[in-house]
Amino acid sequence: MKLLVINGPNLNMLGIREPAIYGSQTYAQLEETVRDAAREFGFDVEILQSNHEGVLVDAIQAAYPNTDGIIINPAAYTHTSVAILDALKSVGIPAVEVHISNVRQREDFRQVSYAGMACFHTVMGEGLDGYRTAIRVMKEKLSAK
Ligand code: DQA
Repeated sequence: MKLLVINGPNLNMLGIREPAIYGSQTYAQLEETVRDAAREFGFDVEILQSNHEGVLVDAIQAAYPNTDGIIINPAAYTHTSVAILDALKSVGIPAVEVHISNVRQREDFRQVSYAGMACFHTVMGEGLDGYRTAIRVMKEKLSAK
């Protein structure tokens, strides 16, 4: 089974950016967490990070038709991007949204998630472990088909 994990802007700055919110683990550690969980749950995984909305849209489109599941942390584009929402809806691939922080307890402008409207599940506030949770939830969903 093939999994695509997409990370949006500034997630490459993990470890440096706002450690009180995002912790001190780096983007390399995020990738390691994802690879370990993908192995554990039997997925072939591709991981991508970009600071550019169009690159994220292109990656979602390119996932069709040979990808079984998408895990996405759209980062700041969560709260602004109808283009990412439309791309997820276009491909119709089961998707799980991840946020490292608990966005529900943060600023008002973070209370809307466009991408989340195309995801069957959201994980937030679990730090990098949230990626493992998301991959487990994806496995359960795909196994139930
Ligand atoms: C984030 C939450 C977003 O609001 C923020 O813009 C991010 C990261 C998270 O993982 O907690 O860049 O998606």
